[in-house]
Formats: sequence, C-alpha cells, structure tokens
Amino acid sequence: MRLDRFISSQRGDLSRSDVKELCRRGRVTVNGETVKKADLSVNEERDTVAVDGEAIVYRKHVYIMLNKPAGVICATKDRLTETVLELIPPELRRDGLFPAGRLDKDTEGFVLITDDGELAHRMLSPKSHVPKTYFVRLEQPLEPSLKERFKQGLVIDGGEQCLPAELIPGEDPFECRLILHEGKFHQVKRMFQGCGNRVTYLKRIQIGALPLDPKLPLGGCLEILHKDVDKLLAR
Ligand code: URA
Repeated sequence: MRLDRFISSQRGDLSRSDVKELCRRGRVTVNGETVKKADLSVNEERDTVAVDGEAIVYRKHVYIMLNKPAGVICATKDRLTETVLELIPPELRRDGLFPAGRLDKDTEGFVLITDDGELAHRMLSPKSHVPKTYFVRLEQPLEPSLKERFKQGLVIDGGEQCLPAELIPGEDPFECRLILHEGKFHQVKRMFQGCGNRVTYLKRIQIGALPLDPKLPLGGCLEILHKDVDKLLAR
C-alpha cells in the first residue's frame, strides 16, 4: 500500500496531503529511515511506520464503543440531526465507519461503531442470536407475570412473534433489565406497550458479553481492545 494511503487510513486526523507535507518535512520514518516520498510502497503487516517518532500500530478494522446520548441518530450522515459518527473523535475516525445496528433517537447507550462489515453482519444477523441487554424504566410498576410471558416469547402487534426474552426485575418496581436475542423495530417499547405499560427511559447496557463501560460518559467513545472484540458475538 502507498505510504500516504496507509498513514491516512490509520490516522483519521491526517489526510493524504497532510502526509505528503509531513514526509516533505522529514517527519515520517519507515523502519527507522526518514522517507521523503509519500508514494513509497509499504507492507502494512511488516514495516514499522512512524510519524514524529510515534509508531503506527496497524489495525485492519476498528471497533468503537459509543455511549449514545438521546437526540443523536444512528446513521452515517443526516442534514438536520446529529449522527453517532459526528461523536467519534478525529484520532479514531477512518473511512468506512458505520453504526452496527440502530438505537432509537431517544434511546441511550452502547452502539458499536466499526468498519468491519463482516463482524457487524454476524452480530446483527437474527440467526446468530447475540444477546443485547437493556436497562428499562417504566411508567407503571412492573407486573410480575411479565417475566414468564416474556420467557415464553411474546406476540406483539397482533401477530409478530418475539423470541424468548429474559426479564430481570430491578429493586425499584419501575425498573428492570431485559435481554433480547433479536432486534425488531422499537422492540423493547413495543413489548411493554403490548402489555399495557410504557417505556419512559431506555438504555442499551451490553452487547453479547461486552458491557458498556460504566465510566464512559454520555457521548463518549473508547476503542474496544482486540482481545474483547469476540465478546461482541458471545451468545
Ligand atoms: N428497542 C426499542 O424499543 N428501542 C431501541 O432503541 C432499542 C430497542
């Protein structure tokens, strides 16, 4: 791959023309040698490329945990409303990033932002049944019989069959956690609506076996370490 393309693909804050300028100024090295030509061919797996002495660790894909605030939409771009991609800090940006799955505009919590289409597909495919855990606050106290009804698989909106879901009541009777193994449109809200209740606050707190970092503020992001990526697919 060309040096300028390699650096800008890994460093979202540097365009290819920035890299050309950095090379011209002698700030880029390949295997310890200063390189002035930005079109040099590098092997991204084997060569050590550094900018201002800081080595670039090659990552084929990135996986970002975002704590989505309400009011932001899960899209790559929108003329009117702020999107989740606009919350990604420049150093984590790169071509091809997209939100893997959607939360409603008023829902908070864990959204995976990645450029790995294959992992996103596996995480979202109804066949893979990756669990998604939600914290739910309700308008009415939780009806105890719902635990069993959700476990059996609720039918919503006059015929749509849901997969069995696990409902874990909270200490507060208005709060619970819900683990779903699929992602139908507005599913959590529709499940409670169908049982005569209403969701007043919703937050996704876990995908697969990876919990949302409780220290991550609303609107904050962190890069998911490679050792944790498989947890996104754990059943
Ligand atoms: N279920 C919903 O109703 N809304 C979401 O954003 C996610 C799950």
